[in-house]
Amino acid sequence: MGDKGTFWLPESGSTLSPGLDSLFYFTYWISVVIFVAVTVAVIVFAIKYRRRNDSDIPPIVHENKLLETAWIVVPTILVLIVFTWGFRSFLKLHSPPANAYEIQVTAKQWLWDYTYPNGKTSTGDLVVPVDRPVRLVMTSTDVLHSFFVPAFRVKQDVVPNRYSSVWFEATGQGEYHILCTEYCGTQHSGMLGSVIVQSAEDFDAWLQSGVEDMAPAEYGALLYTQQNCNVCHSVDGTRLVGPTLLGLFGRQTTFTDGTTAVADENYIMESIVNPMAKIVEGYPPGMPTIYSSFDSDQLNALVAFIKEQQ
Ligand code: CUA
Repeated sequence: MGDKGTFWLPESGSTLSPGLDSLFYFTYWISVVIFVAVTVAVIVFAIKYRRRNDSDIPPIVHENKLLETAWIVVPTILVLIVFTWGFRSFLKLHSPPANAYEIQVTAKQWLWDYTYPNGKTSTGDLVVPVDRPVRLVMTSTDVLHSFFVPAFRVKQDVVPNRYSSVWFEATGQGEYHILCTEYCGTQHSGMLGSVIVQSAEDFDAWLQSGVEDMAPAEYGALLYTQQNCNVCHSVDGTRLVGPTLLGLFGRQTTFTDGTTAVADENYIMESIVNPMAKIVEGYPPGMPTIYSSFDSDQLNALVAFIKEQQ
């Protein structure tokens, strides 16, 4: 575990922490300086220029151009610095590296479930390798939750019927708290967990131990044939009734109404449960709506399967 944190910030455990912490302290110290300067000026001026008797009439004061320019320009520059810095951090927080290791997170009242690419599952404790970018693809089976790891400086709402994601790269082995930060019912405050950061070797050993479930992509492949998806969607690029799944994930797709979108997890889920929402250009709106009853395990599996068709 790295440092133990400060009065203001918890310990720092990810590559995202230093940049965000510097930004916090930059705004913090500017606020301290301005607060002290304004408070001292108010007190000094109140004493120095107080009305001493009833006939005390102050002289007429005209504006000081230099002073007025300074207090317009300096705060504007400070605000622009904070905006630029913050926006760059925001982009970094929302741009997972392409090689990030993906783990599915399912939130439910009142626990966190994790599914790894090989089918290994865990509850509460999220085990991740150190020094490797990890992307969490998260959804909820009931109400709104929010995934928060203070030490990693990441927090993201977890919403039913859609996917949201966060990424981080842990910088030190150890255990870090996971909190739910969206009020989700009576046991909300008990919806806790830990991120357990392990060395690459320990993580691999843990990953291979006691795998009971089918890998999500494997289950997806099974559904693909069992549910007859293969009748309309090929995985080898052949054109059938519907678009091929080959190379679908991450592809820029154009729809009959002229709009476009990059095929991500949410697009795939929407196309399965609400197939009339977006019709791919050049294809008929022929997909049946019977798949809206798929549960989150089935949808996660199909998304994982489609991601592999590259
Ligand atoms: Cu889940 Cu609060």
